[in-house]
Amino acid sequence: MQKYLQKVLTNQFTRASIAQFGQQLKPPVRVAITGAAGQIGYSLIFRVASGEMLGPNQPVILHLIDLPFAMTALNGVVMEIQDCAFPLVQGIVATDNQQVGFKDVNYALLVGAKPRGPGMERGDLLKDNGKIFTETGKYINDHASRDIKVVVVGNPCNTNCLILANQIKDIPKENFTAMTRLDHNRAQHQLADKLGVHTSDIRKIAIFGNHSPTMVPYIDQMTAKNHKATVDQQWVTQTFIPTVQQRGAEIIKARKLSSAASAGNAAMNHITTWVNGTAEGDYTSMAIPSDGSYGVPKGLIFSFPVTVKNGKYSIVQGLPISPFYQGLLDKTIKELVDERNAVDHLLK
Ligand code: NAD
Ligand code: LMR
Repeated sequence: MQKYLQKVLTNQFTRASIAQFGQQLKPPVRVAITGAAGQIGYSLIFRVASGEMLGPNQPVILHLIDLPFAMTALNGVVMEIQDCAFPLVQGIVATDNQQVGFKDVNYALLVGAKPRGPGMERGDLLKDNGKIFTETGKYINDHASRDIKVVVVGNPCNTNCLILANQIKDIPKENFTAMTRLDHNRAQHQLADKLGVHTSDIRKIAIFGNHSPTMVPYIDQMTAKNHKATVDQQWVTQTFIPTVQQRGAEIIKARKLSSAASAGNAAMNHITTWVNGTAEGDYTSMAIPSDGSYGVPKGLIFSFPVTVKNGKYSIVQGLPISPFYQGLLDKTIKELVDERNAVDHLLK
């Protein structure tokens, strides 16, 4: 088999699409997706290609990256993208060579990671994925566009992002984030269901901390239909928080596979919000480099409530933290500090 497969396809539909949309198309941007032959990749790529992530007037050149053994499967994905005749797809680069894969890339959704195997400890997973994200960080630093926006999805995503960002020398550190939008969306659904409203009616909630069972779904400022909304504390502690924290594991139990469509959806939501901004009077959740807010050690990749404007996020300051929430925050901070200590040798 070829050492690596690279395909740059000219899209014969581009001109037709300009006529079809009847509007000015922007210059194309390059979107990299690692783990492109995997299950999240399969649910994500086609939606990005359709314009759902960056909008109907933003053409994309897809950079699909996976490991050498996955190139045959990836070639099948490429054939399917071709067969969709997407108007916005202006090229496809399918490769196991990261130098080629990250060249001039503007957005990177880093999904590819080694899954936890039987008997594997979290520490083993951190070590194996640490190597992957160290290498990827070097390639992004050397070859990607200086304005790249990165979201790490592959687990453990917060600390993988920390390792990755540590390799970056001349791109702003705030461009490196990890995904807790899935947890945010999960919380929104649970609350909407409890309050008998639509998910889009639930605002001003957030996930603090790690994408792990220590994550902190924070709802003390929640509104429903623009009014302050409360739910009983017993339900919060005994049902809501554990459900959100354990939702990933529940899905694995039910599907015998981890969440893929909802994870791909959340990765797209993360980038869309980062580009287009948060709605007035609302915030979202992104795992970002801590600036020390809420007593979180500087530099940890920690999920905070953020507002986004003009492509820049800001941590929502001054949310009241009750002793109950402070206890939960302390736990998730400790877990992330322990993870950072476990990969200390990769952060030199
Ligand atoms: P999958 O096993 O179906 O696919 C992973 C793909 O990544 C495979 O094709 C594999 O070959 C590839 N890969 C592995 N190492 C790579 C590397 N160094 N470079 C490029 N590709 C590489 O797994 P999946 O279901 O798609 O999940 C992917 C990751 O996303 C897992 O780590 C999973 O735990 C994580 N995940 C995170 C969230 C979240 O909310 N942050 C949610 C769901 C899943
Ligand atoms: C999820 O939250 O669905 C995943 O992170 C679960 C997992 O371990 O892949």
